[in-house]
Amino acid sequence: QQRTKIAPSILSADFAQLGAEVAAIAAAGADYVHVDVMDGHFVPNITIGPMVLKALKPHAGIPFDVHLMIAPVDPYVVEFARAGADIITFHPEAGPHPHRTVQLIKAEGKKAGLSLNPATPLSVLDHLLPELDLVLVMSVNPGFGGQAFIPSALEKIAEIRRRIDAVSASQNGRPIDLEVDGGINLETAQAAVRAGADVLVAGTATFKGGPSSYAGNIAGLRA
Ligand code: DX5
Ligand code: ZN
Repeated sequence: QQRTKIAPSILSADFAQLGAEVAAIAAAGADYVHVDVMDGHFVPNITIGPMVLKALKPHAGIPFDVHLMIAPVDPYVVEFARAGADIITFHPEAGPHPHRTVQLIKAEGKKAGLSLNPATPLSVLDHLLPELDLVLVMSVNPGFGGQAFIPSALEKIAEIRRRIDAVSASQNGRPIDLEVDGGINLETAQAAVRAGADVLVAGTATFKGGPSSYAGNIAGLRA
């Protein structure tokens, strides 16, 4: 198995110092910058948009993993792509045609991810998985950092791991990330990786203790 990737969610960063924060997590060994975009409509919270993404992009040389919790999503795909997203992940409930959303993302030359809420059935992957670069399993209901990990995410991860391995094998080993998001700490990280996750989103667990702790926090999660 590949080394586990860590994607700190900047939702738990100091919003008054965001440029320095993304630079610090990149220097501390993060694999992706996870950017949680919320619209106060699809989820009950409002965070940041493409202008902030564009401002942050030059501050870290690692991929920007942009998690769109917005509906409708299609009108904003091009803007986030051009603002610096490398991976664009959306929720199937955020529009009537998820396959079209994937096409829009790919037409911009970006990687496409699909995110499953705790109550979203795996059947949304049936005809889409061969087109995806990433599947994001939500282990909390989206909207806020600092929530508790929902254990039923583990069986979902295990089942998606089987599906990803089958699709990947039929496509010459094309990599498809299996990312888990919400309530990741040292204990749940281990359970998620055992179930088959290979990318861990971590907000609270990365940023606790301030910049001098980031490298240790990230290494701890990866181990
Ligand atoms: C929740 C977001 C997550 C969240 C993770 O809607 O998608 O990325 O902020 O935060 P922690 O790691 O604190 O649960
Ligand atoms: Zn997220």
